[in-house]
Order: sequence, then structure tokens, then C-alpha cells
Amino acid sequence: MSAFKKSAALRSTAALSLVLVAGSAFAEGVEVTIVSGAVGNAVANFEALVAPWEEATGNTAVLVPMPASTTDQFGQYRLWLAAQNGDIDLYQTDVIWAPQLAEHFVDLTEAAAAAGLIDANFPSIIESQTVDGKLVALPLFTDAPALYFRTDLLEKYNASVPTTWEELTATAQMIQDGERAAGNAEIWGFVWQGNAYEGLTCDALEWVKSFGGGQIVEADGTVSINNDNAAAALEMARGWVGTISPEGVLAYQEEEARGVWQTGNAVFMRNWPYAYLLGNGDDSAVKGLFDVAPLPAGPNGSSAATLGGWNIAVSRYGDQQEAAISLALYLGSAEAQKQRAINEGNLPTIVSLYEDADVLAANPYMARWQDVFLNAVPRPSAPVGSDYNEVSTLFFTAVHSVISGQSEAADALADLQDDLDDLLGN
Ligand code: GLC
Repeated sequence: MSAFKKSAALRSTAALSLVLVAGSAFAEGVEVTIVSGAVGNAVANFEALVAPWEEATGNTAVLVPMPASTTDQFGQYRLWLAAQNGDIDLYQTDVIWAPQLAEHFVDLTEAAAAAGLIDANFPSIIESQTVDGKLVALPLFTDAPALYFRTDLLEKYNASVPTTWEELTATAQMIQDGERAAGNAEIWGFVWQGNAYEGLTCDALEWVKSFGGGQIVEADGTVSINNDNAAAALEMARGWVGTISPEGVLAYQEEEARGVWQTGNAVFMRNWPYAYLLGNGDDSAVKGLFDVAPLPAGPNGSSAATLGGWNIAVSRYGDQQEAAISLALYLGSAEAQKQRAINEGNLPTIVSLYEDADVLAANPYMARWQDVFLNAVPRPSAPVGSDYNEVSTLFFTAVHSVISGQSEAADALADLQDDLDDLLGN
């Protein structure tokens, strides 16, 4: 019997005698509450993910699922944290939030170091969660998007995987036209995230950066967005809406794009790694019919992927802090990250898992994705600090107004530059 099972068996014997003696089976454990966004199969996998920790500690982990949109989650979390809510012990946090929410979370530096997790993680990811020397959250998984493409359709039309946006646009149109002429009325060339939320900031940063248009606010704090390359990038995306992308793309988040893709109705999709595993699931119409490549490049730049990822932070106000730290360390461990990679398709942040045979068998592309996320473009959360949410909101609002045809890119970007300069006091 493993040490794990033994302790669980002992525990249930102990629990049984507690029932007999005191009439309660729950006297020994505490309940730890975690709030987390619900994308992909994260909710379905949660119980299996935390089971080893629950068995080992006798505690229970309770998931409170949140809306999928990062922007909506952030708004809710900020309210709870400002009110010093004691019911929530752990927050699953987006990579961009560390500087804005740092004051509300416990410093995990010592606990993580003692568990070997500082050394086990990619240094740049630990750095992204470190604010003024404080480890604000422990990495759970990292994210860098891919261009998903249908291998069967590219082959049928004798097309190659596009490496420039121009090629992508032409190939998407050609295959869409061909498939529609053959009677497939539902097919679209390219699906992505066009809703006015954080996900659009990610997509649009990729277009702009890959056109040589900078990264909105540069590392030194300079607002750089008002330039011709950025404007050309947004005009390109505007041109997709209603041609190779459905009008509805203006309301799509990750899951809506994946919905179209997974029913077999898109030639290309921009999405994060979680969609790879799900796309190869038994209920997927594209199982075995797709692969992934880096996103295409623009005329004056090279392929750019926005850096994403999620972490776990311990609230300073939660009433189960010790158990919460224990759960955070477990969720950030190699064991839990491996479970997540295999069952949710998330990219680990633990270096050694990129050589793990089981992880690579479930997600063969991951061996080549280390380079993509290590070179991914960060959103400007470090240079703008506590203003990030507003910076991003101004950016995605301006982008949305362009891609929905309400403003010209050059005008929208000139206004955006003024607004950002005002906000940041430049
Ligand atoms: C993914 C990324 C996250 C990003 C979000 C935008 O979840 O991991 O960093 O903010 O998508 O929708």
C-alpha cells in the first residue's frame, strides 16, 4: 500500500470512529475555497486534480467557478479583495494581475522555496509573479497561443501552412469559397477572439507586434501605439470580419471560437493550448484532423504570441490560510501540473515536465512550444503597474471600435495615444 493510500485508510478509520463517537465525520479537516475561471474542462477535472491533496491532508477543496472572461473575473475579484472577504482562501490569477493585486496576497517566497518550486519553475515565470521581492502567486500553467489549422483541408486544397497574415487571409478565403461551393454553408476561414475584453487585447497585441507596431506601452513606459504599422494591423483584422470570419466573431471569446472550430466549421483558429487536447477528444469533429503552428507574421515584423498564464494566490483575508498555502503548493507542484497538462492540456511552468513522456504523449506539440512561450510578448502590466486594467480596457475598446467598423484605425489610435498619455501622466 502506498504511503498515500495508507494515510487515507487510516484517516477513514479515524473518521469512522469520530462518526461513532461524536456523530461527525468532518471533525478533522477544513474546507478551502478557491475561485477560478471556467474555461475548457477545468471544472470537470477539478475533483480529480485535488483528490491526492484531499486524501493526504484530510481537507476539502471547494471550487467556485467564475465567468470565463478574465475581464469579468478581475472586476469581481477586486470587489471581494477590497471588502477583505474571508470566505475565499485562494484566487486563480491571470499572469497580468500580479502588480495590481499584490497587496492582497500572502508572500509565498519562503513556502515555495522550501517546496523546491522556485528552482523547478522557469525563472521568467516566477519573475512575472514577483512584485517588489514578494512572490504574489505560484505559477499553475503558462499560455502562448497557436494558429490551429485543419491538416485535411490544407491537403485537399494543396495549400501550405501560412507564415504571414497575408497568406492566412488568402488561404482561408480560398478554402472557405471552395467548401461553400461544395455545399458546406457553415464553414468559415478563421475564428479568433473579437469580443471587447482582455482576450481581444491579447489577439490585437499579436497583430500589432507582428506588424512591427510595438507593444502598446513599451518596457520603459513609452506609449507607442499610435503608428502606421499598428493601424495597418487593425485594418487587416477589420477586413476579416464578414469575409473569412463571421460577424459574430466580434462577440467571441475563447470558448465561442473553440465551439465553431470543434464542430469542424473553421479552417483556422487562433487559440490557447487548452484547445489542442479538447480538439482531439472523442466528441470532437476535428479529432486527428488538425495541427498547430506559430501565429503568422506581418509585413514589417515576425510572429508574435501574447504571453498568458494562470497562477494561484493565497488571500490575506481568508480564514484557512495555512491549509490554503498547502493547497497552493500542491496545485503548483510537478504532480498537479502534470495531471493538468494531461487532462486539461495546459502548458506546465515546471521545466522538467517538457521532457515528461506522458505529458508529451498527450500533447505532442508541447516539445516545440517551450520556445514559443519563452519568446512570447508580455502585455504591458509591468511598466504600467496598477493602471494595467485601464490601459487594457482603453486598448481593447479602441480595437473593437475599429474591427466593428465604427472608427478608422488611424483616428482610434491617435485618440488612444492621448488617453493613455493622460492616464499614465506622460
Ligand atoms: C488566457 C490567458 C490569459 C489571458 C486570457 C485572455 O486565459 O492565459 O493570460 O488574459 O486568455 O482571454
